Amino acid sequence: MFIVERFGLLEGFRIAHVMFAVMWMGLLWFFNVIQVPAYAEMEAGARNNAFDKLTWRALWWFRHAAWMTVASGFVMLAIGSSGDVNERVYTGDFFKSPRGGMLAAAIVLAIVMLYNVWMVIWPNQQIVIGNARAVAGGAEANPDAPVAARKAAMASRQNMIFSFTVLLAMVGQSGFFYGYEPASSGVRAVFYVIVLAFAAVMELNALGVFGAAVGKANTWMYDKHQNAIYFASGTIVFWVLFFEIFYGKLELLG
Ligand code: HEM
Repeated sequence: MFIVERFGLLEGFRIAHVMFAVMWMGLLWFFNVIQVPAYAEMEAGARNNAFDKLTWRALWWFRHAAWMTVASGFVMLAIGSSGDVNERVYTGDFFKSPRGGMLAAAIVLAIVMLYNVWMVIWPNQQIVIGNARAVAGGAEANPDAPVAARKAAMASRQNMIFSFTVLLAMVGQSGFFYGYEPASSGVRAVFYVIVLAFAAVMELNALGVFGAAVGKANTWMYDKHQNAIYFASGTIVFWVLFFEIFYGKLELLG
């Protein structure tokens, strides 16, 4: 079959990757933008029931979509690096190009996001939902539940912030970042330092290393979903301006 001979499995994995990514991002944004504000308005009995029946199910799809997104991404990299399937080869030189830089940045952030799903959000949500179930069954509330809820909420908001950069980079690398000329090694080094610093500082902040109290400057972006959206939108403007200022433009249409 032409399509299989020409593209091998790469394009099949691309479609699978985007579907897993849509599932993961869709649920991430649902939790942040709809579930959290809705639960804040619900009375305790209804909320505990929703945690038990709705959030529990959603979290299953959420955490499995997360690792499948990352796994399918790495399979694409492996297939595309072999160099014999099509022109899109992710070789060492690819990662020196502007689009390669953006893809690498997205991969770093996506791995941090996967860590947050499995090592922060999921364990803490198990405490929150376990508490909701216990209270619904007439038991005493677990005093650790509010702290667990805050930890899960901060990591979840941070993932929403990272998701803006990841989607800009994942979609933009083949959509428009390839329209920039390769930059000098100095600019590339600055780019990678900024990416790693952004990932590290934001992640440490989300883990509460600089404090987790509500209403502080370092937690402003986690305290309301609107704040997370404003902050995340700012990161998109930053990356686009960085490329505009530091990278030359190719005359693709000229
Ligand atoms: C939050 C996690 C992620 C999301 C939301 C995401 C999303 C996407 C989307 C929407 C595309 C399609 C781009 C297009 O065809 O225009 C894409 C492409 C791709 N993603 Fe991801 N991705 C994620 C994580 C990863 C990871 C961890 C890898 C690991 C290697 C990866 C590797 C790739 C590759 C190789 C492509 C194809 C690039 C090309 O056009 O040649 N992704 N991703």
